[in-house]
Amino acid sequence: MKIINGVRGFHDILPPQSERFTVVEARLRAVLAAYNYEEIRTPIAERTELFARSIGETTDIVEKEMYSFDDRDGTSLTLRPEGTASVVRAAIEAGLAQRDQVAKLCYVGPMFRRERPQKGRYRQFHQIGVELIGREDALADAEVVVLLADCLAAAGATGTQMILNSLGDAACRPAYRAALAAYGEAHAEELCANCQQRCTRNPLRLLDCKDEGCRRVMAQAPLVSAYLCKPCRTHFAQVERLLEAAEVPFTESPRLVRGLDYYARTAFEVLAPNLGAQNAVGGGGRYDGLVEALGGPPVAGVGFALGLERLIMAAGEETLDRRPEVCVIPLAERAAAPVLQLARRLRLAGTRCEIESSGRSLKSAMRRADKLGARFALLVGEDELEAGRATVRDMRRQTDHRLALALGGTGPALAGAIRALGGGDRV
Ligand code: HAM
Repeated sequence: MKIINGVRGFHDILPPQSERFTVVEARLRAVLAAYNYEEIRTPIAERTELFARSIGETTDIVEKEMYSFDDRDGTSLTLRPEGTASVVRAAIEAGLAQRDQVAKLCYVGPMFRRERPQKGRYRQFHQIGVELIGREDALADAEVVVLLADCLAAAGATGTQMILNSLGDAACRPAYRAALAAYGEAHAEELCANCQQRCTRNPLRLLDCKDEGCRRVMAQAPLVSAYLCKPCRTHFAQVERLLEAAEVPFTESPRLVRGLDYYARTAFEVLAPNLGAQNAVGGGGRYDGLVEALGGPPVAGVGFALGLERLIMAAGEETLDRRPEVCVIPLAERAAAPVLQLARRLRLAGTRCEIESSGRSLKSAMRRADKLGARFALLVGEDELEAGRATVRDMRRQTDHRLALALGGTGPALAGAIRALGGGDRV
């Protein structure tokens, strides 16, 4: 039969990589818990208009990259390309986004963007993100960036670079947009066809274009810093001061605009040098105005998302210890039931335990136990069943011990007794 292949850009995460995901997720969850974030799980599909209105009609994500389809009743649905829009929608619906109220929500899960697959870029990828809704002070921005830095450290991603910019707000951004549009129009002949349209539709996106010619032109474009109003300038200076005090290194990047339209004021991105072209491990920023744009009250927000695939790549190789502590070996037909019971007791006591298949010779079973790297082999054959005692082989010291099979009845006691035979050390 012909095999059915997976879909391009939708990858399987196989062991041992899958375990890396679990471990990194667990480490990040511990950091998020310490920062007192609570998890939210939103659906994978949303109404298409949610993303169009929040991320922006003229962004690459909405124009080119969404997986949208009509439901049977004609409603256009989209597989979420990111988490912020869904979290804000859910927070509004559940009444969590209110004036004088703060919601601290985090999420982990798959996102979908129909980009051209390449190293570090997938059509289904995973994000872990946070949204702090209801805070407009600079301390909130700084705390979120510090949290991002702590997440990177917890994942083992060292050597990353944090870049930071302020995008202005509803008061000062229009003047900057106009200046960019005028600059783009003056250089229209040197810009790609897409950017020629962007001049009028969404001039900020001119700074995102990957085309070499456009990048050359935009290198001389006006900078947002020259257009920031006084409150935006003060806010940004406060954020920077707080990050310096927290000793979180960052670089100002006056051309950072991010690929989503909802940002206002602080925007940031984390770049990793070892990732090649897709070097953004994470990014985020402030999105004052988004809650209101989605029909909620005028409540501010700030957050970030890390791409798990890229984060794990940035963290580099880490060998996780998968060796079982105990390999239980049934050496007789009637040993199967007691072995299953013994292994279960050990496992419930948190001991990583492997059961070898029954009916094998002692020699081949021991070879397997050795190959698995088990610290101990627990042998149960006819002799052991007769005597009511298992043989424990300490694989490291190559010594044999006898251990009563029933041994106190509890898993921890059994696990403790096995460990004690080995001098108390684990794997
Ligand atoms: P974003 O920069 O679009 O921001 O995505 C965040 C991260 O997701 C990226 O830095 C990258 O690591 C990962 N990522 C994005 N696209 C792909 C892809 N095709 N393949 C692999 N990884 C990818 C957001 O999504 C915002 N919602 C972040 C945010 C939260 N802003 C405020 N709150």
